[in-house]
Amino acid sequence: MKSFMIQGAKILATGSAIPSSSTTNHDISTIVQTSDEWIFTRTGIKERRLLKGVDQSIIDLAVSASKKALDKIAMHPSQLDLVILATSSPDDLFGSASKIQSKIGASNAVAFDLTAACSGFVLSLVTASQFLYTGAYRNILVVGADTLSKWIDWSDRSTCILFGDAAAAVILQSCSIVDNSVLTFQLNSDGNYANHLSIAYETDIIPHPKLNLHQGYFKYISMNGKEVYKFAVFQVPLSILKCLNSLNMSIEEVDWLLLHQANERILNAIAEKLSISSKKIISNLCKYGNTSAASIPLALDEAIKQNKILSNDIIVIAGFGAGLTWGTVVLRW
Ligand code: COA
Repeated sequence: MKSFMIQGAKILATGSAIPSSSTTNHDISTIVQTSDEWIFTRTGIKERRLLKGVDQSIIDLAVSASKKALDKIAMHPSQLDLVILATSSPDDLFGSASKIQSKIGASNAVAFDLTAACSGFVLSLVTASQFLYTGAYRNILVVGADTLSKWIDWSDRSTCILFGDAAAAVILQSCSIVDNSVLTFQLNSDGNYANHLSIAYETDIIPHPKLNLHQGYFKYISMNGKEVYKFAVFQVPLSILKCLNSLNMSIEEVDWLLLHQANERILNAIAEKLSISSKKIISNLCKYGNTSAASIPLALDEAIKQNKILSNDIIVIAGFGAGLTWGTVVLRW
């Protein structure tokens, strides 16, 4: 990777946006048979934000998060060269990134969607950094945004308790190699287990009468929770260790563990496997649930606002989810 680097990459600013109304575990218990106690003890989630009404969409959340990040560093949107939208719930299957590009006024940027479910932000961060390493681009906006509430079967208690809607953005800029803060990455996919977590397309059995053409529709989220849990706890520590080994970095040197916010028990189990103190885990999923591609930048933005992360801190970021896909990025802040 490093042999192609002519310059480094660093994160300049973050921003996030969440729907205004909160849906508690108690609210969920009025629509499916569950309880606050069951949800909290199995997942660590207390409440989530869901996009309600017809007047707001994933685009609005993504635009709001992006503008907050731009405002923090007083960057004019025309300075952006690229906009990457990590999402699995776009408003348009052809992609929603260009709508964000136009709404924020990033008139000089090319924009595309990147679909990798809950690993989408990690893959987008790595993708963005490659454009910066090679000198192709100078300023890149990466937005992780998902509104999975529209793909949830609200009568399925095994999935509807988990997810929330949100968007969060980071702005990356090229810098000299000595200031590079995206230190290394490690990415993986295993499509053999794609069925463990999917929003599958179902083809109609009856074809078009004249064309013999089968069309269809997307179904709700389906998930084998136990298998996804085992996969995350087994694979994510291996990916993190590969990254740390490649940097000759010890576990003790890690200041923050920022994992995809899927489940508090998964976060704790991964930290325990790595012998990382639970004090180093960044976690906010009790308030937002699993916000898919938004979860990591949302937690990052919040940790920065709380002044948790200091200059030069080592942050190990790992995403995992449908695909199955998982991966790690190590940052020096
Ligand atoms: N409320 C109450 N009971 C529930 C429930 C709910 N919301 N959901 C499931 N149950 C019941 C089940 O029906 C089952 O009952 P039974 O024993 O009578 O059959 C029992 O609770 C145990 O179900 P199980 O699926 O074995 O629970 P679990 O301990 O595996 O926890 C998850 C379920 C979903 C919380 C857990 O598997 C998980 O978090 N997996 C990872 C999912 C994830 O993070 N996905 C996204 C990754 S990006």
